[in-house]
Amino acid sequence: METVVSGIRPTGNLHLGNYFGAVKNFVKMQENSNSYFFIADYHSLTTHPTPANLHDNVRTVLAEYLACGIDPEKACIYVQSDIPEVTELYLLLNMNAYLGELERVTSFKDKVRQQPDNVNAGLLTYPTLMAADVIIHKAAKVPVGKDQEQNLEMMRTFARRFNRMYKNDYFPIPQAYNFGESLVKIPGLDGSGKMGKSEGEGNAIFLAEDPKSIRKKIMRAVTDSGPTEANQEKPIVIQNLFDLMKVVSTADTISHFDALWNSCDIRYGDMKKQLAEDVINFTNPYRERIKDMYENTEYLSKVTRLGAEKARESAAQTIKDVREIMGFRKF
Ligand code: TRP
Repeated sequence: METVVSGIRPTGNLHLGNYFGAVKNFVKMQENSNSYFFIADYHSLTTHPTPANLHDNVRTVLAEYLACGIDPEKACIYVQSDIPEVTELYLLLNMNAYLGELERVTSFKDKVRQQPDNVNAGLLTYPTLMAADVIIHKAAKVPVGKDQEQNLEMMRTFARRFNRMYKNDYFPIPQAYNFGESLVKIPGLDGSGKMGKSEGEGNAIFLAEDPKSIRKKIMRAVTDSGPTEANQEKPIVIQNLFDLMKVVSTADTISHFDALWNSCDIRYGDMKKQLAEDVINFTNPYRERIKDMYENTEYLSKVTRLGAEKARESAAQTIKDVREIMGFRKF
């Protein structure tokens, strides 16, 4: 079975876009690959969270991924900072990572612009830590979004460089895992396209969001002044609402509103009310499971202990080999 590794940054709550994007695919992936999913808490230090926030963010994502169906019996789910071997590999990789190439990474340059007062070495070496995360398990595949392509390329560079420098083919060169067709794009509520929490307050609907707030957001979703001709093509903002319906509503509901659109009898208020109820029906069980998981610290502790144990087995073997290859030998 193919080994796949993916890191999850512990920032914020999962929204429907995350769910129908990466999360659902992770849940599928755990069935037919040797999957490692970890919470990248070291990476999140680059923005200096408070200790209380750091812990709570890890707890939240852990609860949310478990509630979505990541199964600790099938996938290895762990917290990055529980695996000291990762930091050792990070140090070793950093010795062969060059300032020039690290400075050229687009996400680093973006950070330099966004936070000029906090251009720390962790930001610069973000790609070497990411490479360590993946090659510590000698992974073949990394399921990441488009925004991570450059980091993935760096990872490949570091793995190849290690192999070349030490004249072996110890590390497999990790490939992007492409979700292809199954990557459903969920539109946001502000009409601008993709659902995302950085696009502004009302744009995303979170899995753990309470029904009242979901209703309010959906009722405020951007629409237009309505169709003027029968069977007219839908403008983006309206198509977005229909696209959201596609993932939460029944086929009957969708064709009902489609017909109303086509005959110019649609009332957006009615459609939004229906959409809100269908979204709430969909998210309800998740919200409850997230809450249960979040409060069950005994379970979270068990899951992370088991995950760390499994992950360290594979990580320790890699570190042992790498030390030997690089020339750290016992007297
Ligand atoms: N950088 C990734 C993100 O921002 C998170 C991450 C950290 C990651 N380490 C990784 C993803 C290793 C894949 C593999 O989403």
